[in-house]
Amino acid sequence: MSLPSHFMDELRRRTSLSQVIGRHVKLTKKGDRHTGLCPFHGEKTPSFHVRDGDGYYHCFGCGVSGDAISFLREKEGLGFMDAVRQLADAAGMDVPQSKPQDPEVAAKRNKSLVIMDEAARQYQSALMEGNNPALAYLKKRGIDQSAIETFRLGFAPRSGLQETLMKFGHQPDEIIETGLVRISDRDQSRYQMFRHRLMFPITDNRGQVIAFGARALDDDQQPKYLNSAESPTFQKKHTLYGMALARVAVRQGLPLVVAEGYMDVIAIHQSGTAAAVAPLGTALTEEQIKLLWRIDDQPILCFDGDRAGKAAALKALIRSLPLLEPGKTLRLALLPVGVDPDDLIKTQGRDAFAQLLRETISWMDGLWEGTAEQYNLDEPDQRAAFWQDIRGYVREISNGQMRASIGDEVERRINAMRQMVRDLGQGNLAIRYKRSNRPSPMAGSRQRLILALILEHPQLMDDFYEQLSVLQFQDEKMEKLRQTVINVISSHSDLDDDGLRHHLNEYGYTGITGSALLKGMESRIRFDPSSLNIDEARTRLSEVIRLEAAKPKSKTSRSPMRRSQPDMTG
Ligand code: UTP
Ligand code: MN
Repeated sequence: MSLPSHFMDELRRRTSLSQVIGRHVKLTKKGDRHTGLCPFHGEKTPSFHVRDGDGYYHCFGCGVSGDAISFLREKEGLGFMDAVRQLADAAGMDVPQSKPQDPEVAAKRNKSLVIMDEAARQYQSALMEGNNPALAYLKKRGIDQSAIETFRLGFAPRSGLQETLMKFGHQPDEIIETGLVRISDRDQSRYQMFRHRLMFPITDNRGQVIAFGARALDDDQQPKYLNSAESPTFQKKHTLYGMALARVAVRQGLPLVVAEGYMDVIAIHQSGTAAAVAPLGTALTEEQIKLLWRIDDQPILCFDGDRAGKAAALKALIRSLPLLEPGKTLRLALLPVGVDPDDLIKTQGRDAFAQLLRETISWMDGLWEGTAEQYNLDEPDQRAAFWQDIRGYVREISNGQMRASIGDEVERRINAMRQMVRDLGQGNLAIRYKRSNRPSPMAGSRQRLILALILEHPQLMDDFYEQLSVLQFQDEKMEKLRQTVINVISSHSDLDDDGLRHHLNEYGYTGITGSALLKGMESRIRFDPSSLNIDEARTRLSEVIRLEAAKPKSKTSRSPMRRSQPDMTG
């Protein structure tokens, strides 16, 4: 009983060997491999190596080696088909009805791949001939020669492809099979799928051309982008543009970015700031999220900062819920409205893009804020609906540990929100999540509260210094005090509340205390910051800073992305 080789290839591609083996052995990531104690012989120092890249394990101690299937057979005692079924389930694939491998089908598929590659070569050389309009377009868009070659960009002339491919010995029906030449329903004549277009070869994860994306060169050409039709070899939901190159760039230590389009992937790659991939004109699928995690633990999804972009970001986070695993996450980078990464790099430079990648929003913040934005949190019933929504998401997390830990964080945030309502009353929450630019009537009291908490508990600055230093208060007096507090604290370490007040005295803030700052606001702020213990103060400060930081201006207050560089010596 044999399974089609394309199914087995796909299954291997989509299986994370370290994950399969990780259920039995504690593995440590070292560069492109994982190591651990060999499960096949007793040992005290790890000589068992697992390479996700090619899906093989090997023990340098006892010499065993194999792939995910042989591991499951040996370690879990499964038969071949059961091992395949288990892996296919995990990979979200259906095991094909087992029938003898059809050699004809396999041969056909290989033939198609050869022709696709030849076509890519033809498109590439056409791009370099004469005054090519696609080349002129690429130059205008600032794509350099090296990127053109790396991505094998090309040009599809209006005609001639079939003739050229036939010169290389390919038969007309074999060419039709690739979808590059089609037969008209009307009169059975043959026509080229791609005419007068800029060509982007789409490869599988190993770099083999499996399809093409094609961009119009004239304004009246529709659609703007045309993709090869889906086939058993090319399924959009399993494919990410740029994956093979991104895999290499990630190994070299670059963060992995998911952009929206072909040109973005190329511009990002060319900028050297990140590895980049893009889905093919559709929302990110579960399969694609799994693919991302096979090469990077925290891919950054780059979206337009407009409504649609935020909605797409939230959708991707929700889609990741059943797939989450400890150590795997997604981060968000929101671009300025109407700007894609390609535009940003071109107009503001690579450093601006690199900076954006350092200001990412965490998975948790993205889900929380993206969901919260849909509600008016100043209405009690809307708050309840929001909690119900977000708790529902937690239940969609299949991994038990992730569900527990994210569930706890969600409960903590809900409690902080309730505390906030009790402390400050209504009228505070909506402004936070709607990201409105309008100064809130409550903003002044929020800012006073932040400063009051710090004045009474300067130790909290250890945790909040960074966040406080990127805020900007609308209230001029409070802004001045904020800056002064930052100045004092950054030039004196280990200040207690008396020490801080002493230094503030020198700046003319005589007799200033947290309670004094909140004078006259007793009706809104129903506690005295000086009577809180440090943990109570921390909880309040953290929430009130989160509220304040929601203004678009202070986007930089997001925690900077933390990324451990892969160990290149491993
Ligand atoms: P955009 O229209 O944002 O294009 O589509 P872009 O990538 O910025 O392209 P340039 O910069 O104008 O060249 C984003 C992605 O959506 C898919 C493509 O994958 C494209 O890269 N798309 C777009 C289509 O599949 N078909 C279309 O007609 C348009
Ligand atoms: Mn663009």
